[in-house]
Amino acid sequence: MKKYKIAVVGATGMVGQTFIKVLEDRKFPVSEVVFFASKRSAGSKVLFNGLDYVVEELDESSFDQGFDFALFSAGGETSLKFAPIAASKGVVVIDNSSAWRMKEDIKLVVPEVNSHVLTKDDLIIANPNCSTIQSVVPLHVINELFGLKRVIYSTYQAVSGSGYKGVMDLKNGYENIAPVFYKKPIFDNCFPHIDDFLDNGYTKEEKKMMDETRKILGLSDLNVSATCVRIPVTVGHSVSMNVECIKPIDMSQLTTAFKNHKDIVFYEGTNYPTPKDVDGNDLVHVGRLRKDLSAENGIHLWAVADNVRKGAATNAIQIAEYLIKENLI
Ligand SMILES: NC(=O)c1ccc[n+]([C@@H]2O[C@H](COP(=O)([O-])OP(=O)(O)OC[C@H]3O[C@@H](n4cnc5c(N)ncnc54)[C@H](OP(=O)(O)O)[C@@H]3O)[C@@H](O)[C@H]2O)c1
Repeated sequence: MKKYKIAVVGATGMVGQTFIKVLEDRKFPVSEVVFFASKRSAGSKVLFNGLDYVVEELDESSFDQGFDFALFSAGGETSLKFAPIAASKGVVVIDNSSAWRMKEDIKLVVPEVNSHVLTKDDLIIANPNCSTIQSVVPLHVINELFGLKRVIYSTYQAVSGSGYKGVMDLKNGYENIAPVFYKKPIFDNCFPHIDDFLDNGYTKEEKKMMDETRKILGLSDLNVSATCVRIPVTVGHSVSMNVECIKPIDMSQLTTAFKNHKDIVFYEGTNYPTPKDVDGNDLVHVGRLRKDLSAENGIHLWAVADNVRKGAATNAIQIAEYLIKENLI
């Protein structure tokens, strides 16, 4: 079996560390791997498959080493600068930041939904926002069966979505230490504020969910709105979705489709998923499916996933696995 040379960019971060675990867990065919971060942690060590690797500082010559894939999770600015350098050397970049997601010629991919858009020419591929990934997996099923008309998201997002800084603010809150990263305390609290506010009153996180949902599902006119809330949970985002469809919804058909979906764990009746049920898991957990009594062809559902795995590292590695399987690299 062919093996691949991988660069992990942002290796010391929350997603970077999870890339390492997911590459190990999924036994990704790695021939060689090099770990990059900023000057701050160059020289530190990371553990991969039981061996210590020294972290290198990312610079313009980092991609001169004949990589097949570069898994980026080092923020938007780093991606904007270094992804084109990697791509110019023939490396396939899969990027976790929001920098490339809405660019017209860049594919934004959740493999279960739209891997068919990928071609051999895609050298920079964008991984979507974490809450969006876990939402479009069940939404795609609903759309195929009944056609989506309108989606309203309310999210309950874990602090690991902000990387180590968010996790530290929650941990410190237990000892009454004021937050450093968040504007308000997250311990024993929650706030409807993720990323910066826009002039129209939405936050950038909400706009990401709205725009990315349309792009991944290929529904440029879909009515979609979002309220994104940070909650004091370490890992696992939850999304409540209120969905209106074009056609009448056959609940038993939809239940069967969720039950048979290989990437969904479906919880029936009064059973439902929580963040504790998904920590370390690669699937999307769906429950609380019920008719919306206030709207014709309306339903409610609740989706929970590990935001650092399926919402980031796992989704990116699934994209790489798809490219390998389809001979697109
Ligand atoms: N956490 C999530 O659930 C999640 C989900 C989806 C997407 N993302 C996205 O993934 C990216 C990383 O998030 P994270 O949560 O892993 O953040 P994080 O824990 O703060 O880690 C950031 C990583 O980026 C590295 N880095 C920062 N500036 C760099 C530079 N100039 N050159 C090279 N490396 C640099 C850091 O290295 P140093 O150790 O040297 O500082 C660190 O390894 C962000 O774009 C984020 O929006 C995160």
